Amino acid sequence: MSQIVYVINGPNLNLLGSREPDVYGHTTLSDIETIATKAGASRGLSIEFLQSNEEGALVNWIQEAREKAVGLIINAAGYTHTSVAIMDALLASDIPIIEVHLSNIYKREDFRHHSYVSKAASGVICGFGAHGYTLAVDAMANLLKSD
Ligand code: DQA
Repeated sequence: MSQIVYVINGPNLNLLGSREPDVYGHTTLSDIETIATKAGASRGLSIEFLQSNEEGALVNWIQEAREKAVGLIINAAGYTHTSVAIMDALLASDIPIIEVHLSNIYKREDFRHHSYVSKAASGVICGFGAHGYTLAVDAMANLLKSD
């Protein structure tokens, strides 16, 4: 049976495709789910792809991933820059964590330069749009191999 990797997406990412396309591109979240699922399948990983606009739901999935998954990829979106609760949930987890952002957060407003998620992540992929999810799945497969 394939190993399960959770891919958790935060607020407003459900609007991808129509939301600020100049920043986030035209790819929808459903397209990204397809891309991530295919990338996972070719590396023997089964992707559990999730999105919520609610902080508590994200915390619950991070906690669930500790029990059910071998790795966690997260784009916490706006909560990246604000959520101690998400950071704490990630720190409580001992599976590898990869942080993803579609945009290059370091090229944007100062408030996006700080990430609570980074405190718990093995690495960060940002600025490559939807392709960042493929890169993250690839990086996760490598981390799991070297475990
Ligand atoms: C984002 C970057 C965040 O700063 C922003 O709040 C988002 C999306 C990204 O994927 O580029 O909602 O995480």
